[in-house]
Amino acid sequence: MLDDITRSAERDIGIKAYPRSISRIIGAIKSSDDFWEIVDISDEPLPLVAYVIERLVDKGFIELKNGKIVLREDLEGEVSQWHKCFECDGRGVIIDDFKKEFETFMEIQRERPSAKKEFDQGYVTPLTTFSRIAYADQKGDIRGKEVIILGDDDLVSLALALTHLASRVVLLDIDKRIVDFVSKSARSHGVDVEAHVFDLRNPLDERFLHQFDTFFTDPPETVTAFKAFIGRGLATLKGARNAGYFGITRRESSLNKWRELEKVLISDFGVVITDILHNFNVYVNWEYWDTTRAYDLSPSKTHPKTNWYKSALFRIETLEDFRIFNDPIEGDIYNDVESSTT
Ligand SMILES: [Fe+2]
Repeated sequence: MLDDITRSAERDIGIKAYPRSISRIIGAIKSSDDFWEIVDISDEPLPLVAYVIERLVDKGFIELKNGKIVLREDLEGEVSQWHKCFECDGRGVIIDDFKKEFETFMEIQRERPSAKKEFDQGYVTPLTTFSRIAYADQKGDIRGKEVIILGDDDLVSLALALTHLASRVVLLDIDKRIVDFVSKSARSHGVDVEAHVFDLRNPLDERFLHQFDTFFTDPPETVTAFKAFIGRGLATLKGARNAGYFGITRRESSLNKWRELEKVLISDFGVVITDILHNFNVYVNWEYWDTTRAYDLSPSKTHPKTNWYKSALFRIETLEDFRIFNDPIEGDIYNDVESSTT
């Protein structure tokens, strides 16, 4: 039965599935009856999870009861055993040293611009934003360093400026609302962010090339967009042994796609992956979620009750012969068969 669904998935929705993918989805259904949590727990791409649930409904193994996904037979599935540290929520860092800055940030971010679908926005929890800074600080990538953020609806630039740790904070974003919000908030709190409206589909110019020690970005997860955003990030760095941070999710990227993305890093850019932190980035359920493909595909059409969309935090480091990508980009770079939140 598993082999059958595994084969038809690739044919019907174009996503490479394995018997273990199906087993993980069944295991997740044993842990939760909520579609969004099942996607979260299984760590399989959302379109595949939706597809598998529908096939299991067709075969009579599952039923949908008031938006709940319920197993009718005791199928074998891989159930995850949790051993997560609740102190740090599995991130490995706590933000106690930034207590005051975090409180200020919480106050400021109440007025933040809402997530916009046209820019593929969707922001992380404030705790995630600060944990990212704590983690990068621990790695020596922040203190006294020049830092650039390429696309920042997570408001990392503002949080970073509040800590006064970096020697320079620069923000590029296509969305004028974000640029204005960060500039205004930074000014009113007496801290400095150089914020520019910039469409990252355009090549970076001298103002931003080879100027920084560390970059942060959050690329859309098509191979083309990923290459473009990471390539731009690398183009901002001064040289060898500089660092870059970004997320890659399991929600919209199968492991086959992960391998393609990792190949871009290692083969195309010649950088080294030093850290991968599972589910480090936790996203707030965005305002436009019920107009997304994810909602369309969801068999239950229920509201997410928990923050189900997460991504792994990647840290890369440049070596002496790393390469960049700074060519112009055209066309739709946001969508492929595995994406579902645009
Ligand atoms: Fe911990």
